Amino acid sequence: MDHTEKYDIEKIRADFPVLEQKVYNNKPLIYLDNGATTQKPLRVIRVVNRYHSELNSSIHRGVHFLSDQATNAYEKARETVRNFINAEKKEEIIFTSGTTGSINMLAFSFGEQFLEEGDEIIISEMEHHANIVPWQMLCERKKTKLKVIPFDDNGVLDLEVYENRITDKTKLISVTHISNTLGTVNPVREMIRIAHKNGIPVMIDAAQSIQHTEIDVQELDCDFLVFSGHKVYGPTGIGVFYGKEKWLELLPPYQGGGDMVDIVTFEKTTYNELPFKFEAGTTNYIGAIGMAAALEYISEIGMKKIAAYESDLLEYALQKLDHSGGITIYGLAPEKASILSFLIDGIHMLDAGMIFDKMGVAVRIGSHCAQPVMQHFNIDGTLRASVSFYNTKQEIDYLCKAIQQVKTMFT
Ligand code: ALA
Repeated sequence: MDHTEKYDIEKIRADFPVLEQKVYNNKPLIYLDNGATTQKPLRVIRVVNRYHSELNSSIHRGVHFLSDQATNAYEKARETVRNFINAEKKEEIIFTSGTTGSINMLAFSFGEQFLEEGDEIIISEMEHHANIVPWQMLCERKKTKLKVIPFDDNGVLDLEVYENRITDKTKLISVTHISNTLGTVNPVREMIRIAHKNGIPVMIDAAQSIQHTEIDVQELDCDFLVFSGHKVYGPTGIGVFYGKEKWLELLPPYQGGGDMVDIVTFEKTTYNELPFKFEAGTTNYIGAIGMAAALEYISEIGMKKIAAYESDLLEYALQKLDHSGGITIYGLAPEKASILSFLIDGIHMLDAGMIFDKMGVAVRIGSHCAQPVMQHFNIDGTLRASVSFYNTKQEIDYLCKAIQQVKTMFT
């Protein structure tokens, strides 16, 4: 399929069979829960199916035809990921189970190697629990301290406070690129520059940015970057941990097992070279191949085109919601991705969500695995509509119609 000429939304939607579905008495499905997980294009579905039905075999281990095919495809997937984020070397790309797996790996590995009692790690107030809890667990193990960069009521991080939080005890900074709840696009390039000025490495959580914006790890100069396959139109249970080679060489393995070893004796085990040192056991190789297919698919459409289209949809949605009246939006940073958290004044999110659902509109309700964000605003949760490049203005109109319906029913 050739998307290079123009942005053909009908053609794009036809690639996602799940979007054609009708729910509850023939209502078209309006899928606006892309922050939670994205739908899969036929290319991904077919490649995963093909590998399960024709080419399934253990990677890196067999000498037979199938194993060779699977190994080649898996290593080609690594190269696709390298190219997609413009990493310098494919040894810097580690396949993991997802963003959560990647952050836990870094917290353990970095913590074991570099942290001592009294050291500090900095995160932000808008992190997903996956970028809070592994660090808290590390702090308990190593008696280190977690420091937090606050955001203002628009959802903008306070860079002055950030800089002031850095001390000679700060050993790592771990921040989200785009908030899964507020949609804020953080100035990570600038944050990395400040960190490096102080000699501190930075991890970027790209779980909510990899699908919305072009990412170039060399240009960003981040030391680590993590994301999940399922949020970028690939399968679940697969993700990426990128690390600069100089760091990966220094970090100890996270898990022990097959494939991550060189020589094993009962006296001592030596470890495999990068990237295998961090890939213990049989990895989700079909997931990696499927994720690579997803990255190739969106690359062909073009990340710039995707970003521009989504930005247009966001603008439209913000105007329509503003026009609806009686809506409070959480997260109005000037740099914002197509993630809209809101409440309908005077109406509980669960009541609204139930009506949305019956109208075929899928949004997420709750704290979105970011309870500190809710604590900032003193609320229990929000409705969250997260928009992808396959959504349309008509679907936003339908969301607004659902909001009107909720207001009519509950006021
Ligand atoms: N982290 C996912 C979300 O934001 C599940 O919904």
